[in-house]
Amino acid sequence: MIIAVDGPTASGKGTIAKALAAHFGLPHLDTGLLYRAVGRQVVLNGGNPDDPADALAACAFPESLLGEAILRSEETGGLASKVSVHPQVRQALFERQRAFATQAGGAVLDGRDIGTVIAPEAKVKLFITASVEARAKRRFLEMQARGETVTLNAIAQDLEARDLRDRNRTQAPLIPARDAYLIDTSALGKDDAIQAAIEVVEAAQ
Ligand code: C5P
Repeated sequence: MIIAVDGPTASGKGTIAKALAAHFGLPHLDTGLLYRAVGRQVVLNGGNPDDPADALAACAFPESLLGEAILRSEETGGLASKVSVHPQVRQALFERQRAFATQAGGAVLDGRDIGTVIAPEAKVKLFITASVEARAKRRFLEMQARGETVTLNAIAQDLEARDLRDRNRTQAPLIPARDAYLIDTSALGKDDAIQAAIEVVEAAQ
């Protein structure tokens, strides 16, 4: 069984995907991490994330990069959003995601285009959304807990810029698959959001 979990930054899709994987005993891939690694590698190479050739060269990042804490930073998220616009980058990362999705026994993948491009045949497609305010507040609390100094306003602006880029790119834009089940987590606590997702998957089995 393939479970596709798509949605914008800080919608709760990562938390939901991880919980579904644990609940149903499936392996999980956070595909955003791959784009983050490419974004980070561009900088390490001294390249420009807006340049398709630089971004493509950075797809040859070392596996060890995936474990680095800096990949989770907002700055790297912004770089990921820039490199992910290039079709060459999406193509270079396609096979790896496709192989993970189609492994025997099934898998859970979260990202932006899992239900539309990577695994359109997924048995269950979830599209997780939340208001910009709710997502900015979540990110703000996470960053504050890590001791980072940020303002709610700056985070909201950054989220909106990233949403705009992810939704308007020509290849694999962030849009729900036609057969995706929408879950709005704006007013849901973590446990309720996870429960809602589990119920959708159980109903589809
Ligand atoms: O989900 P996360 O915030 O880690 O993703 C970082 C960026 O990578 C996103 O803003 C998006 O531009 C890109 N991405 C993508 N396709 C995916 C996963 C992430 O374009 N499947």
